Amino acid sequence: MNLLETIQTLKQERHAVILAHNYQRPDVQNLADFTGDSLELARKATAIEAETIVFCGVHFMAETAAILNPDKTVLIPDAHSGCPMADMITAAQLVEFKAQHPAAKVVCYVNSTAEVKAESDCCCTSANAAEIVRHYDGHDVIFVPDQHLGSVVEETLGRKLILWPGYCPTHARINPREIQALKTAHPNALVLAHPECPKPVRIVSDHILSTGQMCTFVKDSPARAFIIATEEGLLHRLRQENPEKAFHRVSPFAVCPNMKLNTVEKVLFCLRDRTPVVSVAEPVAARARRAIEQMLAWS
Ligand code: 13P
Ligand code: SF4
Repeated sequence: MNLLETIQTLKQERHAVILAHNYQRPDVQNLADFTGDSLELARKATAIEAETIVFCGVHFMAETAAILNPDKTVLIPDAHSGCPMADMITAAQLVEFKAQHPAAKVVCYVNSTAEVKAESDCCCTSANAAEIVRHYDGHDVIFVPDQHLGSVVEETLGRKLILWPGYCPTHARINPREIQALKTAHPNALVLAHPECPKPVRIVSDHILSTGQMCTFVKDSPARAFIIATEEGLLHRLRQENPEKAFHRVSPFAVCPNMKLNTVEKVLFCLRDRTPVVSVAEPVAARARRAIEQMLAWS
């Protein structure tokens, strides 16, 4: 039996489903039962009947699936697949920040630990951040940890938020000059940028979209060419779904090394060995679940 056949057999034996984020390696995306952005994956995780979820993404995403499915086994192919942005704020730092702004509501980007979610009123993803913050009209809002997504919300809603200075190191490597050069070479191409991109990149872009929104936008758009300012893994899905359109990568450095830790071989090993398991202990899980479920109810 080859690698892929062995995975299929193990999947059946373990009653498992494989979820993958849009930034996963192409062969991991091809293996998955469902590929999507953070919001789509969180939604999917609420509707799973399988006993085991193999989550091909970074740790906070698998944690979200575990929080929403306390009676299922959630496996991650590589336990070291963390998100540096999520680690830019701890629960203790958030508690201290809240004490400085006692009347403020707290919205945390889903790229955060379970402990930070537990200290928040509501979660959001890059697909629904402004929609969530809008629910707190008339309140001060602390937004953690991504300062760039927070600024996009400020620009969209025309209001100030209390921002935490976190950022994504992968999106920080995207350079507006490289985008300008690509625009000159491909004048008809539309530039789509992820809201984790810093402002100088957003300024030279046509649309600011989550990875899932980029997939929908490209499908519906009459444009034939796109410059994609986000992690390079998304280009695989865009090319698969739109073979007649052209996609230009913004930079050879727009690669999230953590997302790439998961491989097809590690999917096989984690199914075979039923490890590493991702779980979140109560009462943190219960408090984090409230923030995630509030987001799902509002989006
Ligand atoms: P999306 O929710 O747009 O897929 O983004 C997740 C992420 O980690 C981006 O860096
Ligand atoms: Fe975290 Fe950035 Fe990687 Fe997304 S791309 S998982 S925000 S480090």
